[in-house]
Amino acid sequence: MTTHKIALLAGDGIGPEIMAEAVKILKLVEQRNKVFFDLRPALFGACAWFETGKSFPDESIAICDEADAILKGTIGLSHEESKKIPIDEQPERGALLPMRRRYQTYANFRPVTLPPSLAHFSPLRPEIIGDGIDLVIIRELVGGLYFGAKTTGVNDSGRRYVHEVLEYDEDQICQVLEVAFKLSSQRKKVLHNVHKSNVLKSSVLWNEILEEVRVDYPDVQVEHVLVDAAATYLCLDPTRFDVMVMENMFGDILSDQCGGILGSLGLMPSACVGPEKSYYEPSHGSAPDIAGQGIANPYSMLGSVAMMLQMSFGMEAEARNLWQAMQSVFTDGYTTPDLARRGNAERQISTSEFGDRVATALESIPSNG
Ligand code: IPM
Ligand code: MG
Repeated sequence: MTTHKIALLAGDGIGPEIMAEAVKILKLVEQRNKVFFDLRPALFGACAWFETGKSFPDESIAICDEADAILKGTIGLSHEESKKIPIDEQPERGALLPMRRRYQTYANFRPVTLPPSLAHFSPLRPEIIGDGIDLVIIRELVGGLYFGAKTTGVNDSGRRYVHEVLEYDEDQICQVLEVAFKLSSQRKKVLHNVHKSNVLKSSVLWNEILEEVRVDYPDVQVEHVLVDAAATYLCLDPTRFDVMVMENMFGDILSDQCGGILGSLGLMPSACVGPEKSYYEPSHGSAPDIAGQGIANPYSMLGSVAMMLQMSFGMEAEARNLWQAMQSVFTDGYTTPDLARRGNAERQISTSEFGDRVATALESIPSNG
């Protein structure tokens, strides 16, 4: 029997609700496979701050340090509620970025997938969607503007100013490009490099490094696209993309846009891969406006579980089974409210009913484990 220690960071807002569904599925995966998941819940985010005075308390750090993988829900409060927490302890700055830095999770995989059977969820017209969408954003996750030095002050003319640094060194760029080239060589062998080299020197260096890395991947065709143009093409012709690679902030913005072209950020799981440890999280936020109502879509969370099974525990087959089970809930005609469209025949179900249906569907698929 293999044991995997998993730190569970449910977080804020809808986090605990969708995490409950993840745990439901992990228990079922245990029953179906020769595996034991040692689940270690820990406080993280605003909830942690209110209870301990820290967004990423030492006890939680210790649990994450010990874990083989980390499964994170969502963090953050509404704009107004956030103001109750000092700016540097607010969960994004006080917990999430420190966790990314601590484990150097430099490669963020954000799959953007809409199989043909779910193409109707996209707000894009059927002739644009074609046979569905299947691309992956590789976002650099521990460098750039989000991690650079930040200062604020008052200048000599008495005006308030802010100074934020966008910094990358060649090793940081190289390691994430390697990941993107590798993935690309296993997929369609077309890599879209997203940058802004007509303005930013950071993109000029990025592209220089790309020329060096690509030598090792002669079978991968590189397409350059400026980030602003990429935003347009994602709407007009998303099927042209397979693997897209970009720096941190570009990836933050374009991956949310991808949630839009799928029809909901609820369809955006992700994996944040580091040299020793990886963590898995939905790409979306904590949706405080719908928290506690039992209507959040747990698909991104369950997809993150599938990515963890595959990428941290080598459970390829069970990960595929889980994807299949998740998608079957939609094809059977059920959705959470975020995806329900006026005039469509889907039956709206709750967060926990969605999880239950995924579990039932998974039970009906042989486990091969
Ligand atoms: C994401 C989120 C985070 C980010 C926030 C919560 C700091 O938007 O993972 O995309 O900007 O990276
Ligand atoms: Mg984001």
